[in-house]
This record gives sequence, C-alpha cells and structure tokens, in this order.
Amino acid sequence: MEVAKTIEEIRSLIKKARSNGKTIGLVPTMGALHIGHISLIKAAAEKTDFVVVSIFVNPIQFGPSEDFDKYPRPFEQDLQICQDNSVNLVFAPSSDEMYGRENLTWVDVDKLTEPLCGRSRPDHFRGVTTVCAKLFNIVLPDIAFFGQKDAQQAIVIERMVADLNMPLDIIVCPTVREEDGLAVSSRNKYLNESERKDAPLIYEALQKAQSMVASGTKETQQILDEMRKILNRSKLIEPEYVEIVDTETLQPTGTAEGKLLIAIAAKLGSARLIDNITVDASKD
Ligand code: PAJ
Repeated sequence: MEVAKTIEEIRSLIKKARSNGKTIGLVPTMGALHIGHISLIKAAAEKTDFVVVSIFVNPIQFGPSEDFDKYPRPFEQDLQICQDNSVNLVFAPSSDEMYGRENLTWVDVDKLTEPLCGRSRPDHFRGVTTVCAKLFNIVLPDIAFFGQKDAQQAIVIERMVADLNMPLDIIVCPTVREEDGLAVSSRNKYLNESERKDAPLIYEALQKAQSMVASGTKETQQILDEMRKILNRSKLIEPEYVEIVDTETLQPTGTAEGKLLIAIAAKLGSARLIDNITVDASKD
C-alpha cells in the first residue's frame, strides 16, 4: 500500500495504475475509520481493481462552531485499517496541499442542500461538494463510493455528478449499524455512557416509521408523532429534525406515497447524530 501526501504524487501513482489497465475506485473519508468506512472499501474492492481511500478532514465543510478541531485524527490506526483491507493507495493531503491559497471556486448544488441538515449547517454541503469535485479531479476514479448513512450528502453528490457531467459513477452503500441499531459514526466517540445507552432510540423511531408505512399509514404527521414519542423517551436526546421527505426533492410530504426518506438529526450531549431509512410506499 502506498501513501501519497501530494497531488503530484497521487496523480503519478494513479497514472501508473491506469496504464496497467486498472479501474479506479475512490472512497472519500475524513479518517477515524470504522466498520462503516470498511464496508465502502470492500464494495470498492469488489467493483474496481485499484482502491484509493482519501483521508482528509475537510475544513471548509465545518461551520465556525462545529467540531473541526476536536474531530478525531487517529492517522496511524487508519493506515493500518487500510492496509488490513487491501487498499492500494491512501491519499492524505494537508490542508495546505488542498487549499494552498484562498479558495475562490465553489461547487454549489441548489435546493437539495437547503432542507434537513442544510438548515442548521448552511455552508456544509458546498464544502462537501467542493472537496469531492476536487478529489474526483485529482483521482479521476471510475466509481466513487458513499454511505447511505449520510443520505442527503449522497443525493447531493449524485446530483452534482449528473448536473456537471462528471465522468464517474457513484455507488451508495447501506448503513452499517452497531448490534443495538445505532448507525456507526466517528462522532459516536463523543457519547458518554448514558447518551450511548439512549442513542439507539433514533433507529427505533426510524423502524417504527418504516413499519407504519408498511402497514399502510398514509398520514405522515401521524408517523412523525409516533417517532417523536419514541425519541422523547430519552431526556438526553434533543431532536433537531424528524422528517419524511421525497427522496428526489427532499421536500416534506404530507402523504406517505412513493419513495420516501425518513430522517432524524439529534443532539446527544456534544454529539450531533444523523440517521435515516428509505421506504417505498408505493409497494403494498
Ligand atoms: P466521513 O464522515 O468520514 O464518511 C466517509 C464515508 O463513509 C461517507 O460516504 C459516509 O456516508 C460513509 N459512512 C459513514 N458512516 C457509515 C456507516 N455507518 N455505514 C455506511 N457508510 C458510512 O462523509 C464524509 O466523511 C465527508 O463529508 C466526505 C464525503 C469525505 C467529504 O469530506
């Protein structure tokens, strides 16, 4: 496994892999790798010949009061995880390498970035789309792999790639969960014991919604009320949003019909957790 820290280095290593006829898979990450990231690495190894993992805590996607400074950076451990999972190349640039001078060029996806997490994190998605556009231009992958865990992010990236005719495919992989249902996340490290104990209620609320849709409940307000009841069982969970939206537009829907994204963001102590489930309400 090679580790490239500069754009020049990675470009030449990618060129070599390509000239050997290899297809390139990219897994963009911010490090602190866990089994969720590993599932993307495995999917990349299945679908492509040469797996690149980028590890970069991207400053431009964090708001001023967010956790950029305290975001975990266990770099040596991350390299070991990559090595153990047969990654071919790690790209770990410095902030200077990625944003050497003031960044004046941004990729902005309209509309889809406004609801859900966009409301409380106004510049977050343009930070994500801008860094992903840069990573795609640097690595030139055939396929990039993202997690359903960050559903809005995946939808926004898919739209950017489609709207800008970027020459790659996006594959979205299922959310990996702990045994009790909590979606695995680097931010779970911020939870204390009692917060960690209550955290699975988020998934329980999503499952309740899924079963209500499956059993024919049409009024989304009724479903949302039940979801909130479950979250309210914990005094530690402060919901930021509980929503049922159309998967294409990310706009709320009053009636459960078609493909729906059911999503929750909640504060638990200092951690902000997000999770979601998709359901197809057109299926009986
Ligand atoms: P990060 O939070 O490190 O996540 C990297 C990728 O792993 C994302 O596509 C995310 O959806 C996926 N992922 C995280 N937890 C997962 C889980 N439990 N199951 C499945 N996939 C999971 O998301 C980012 O970094 C950044 O915004 C990035 C795209 C790298 C741009 O900076």
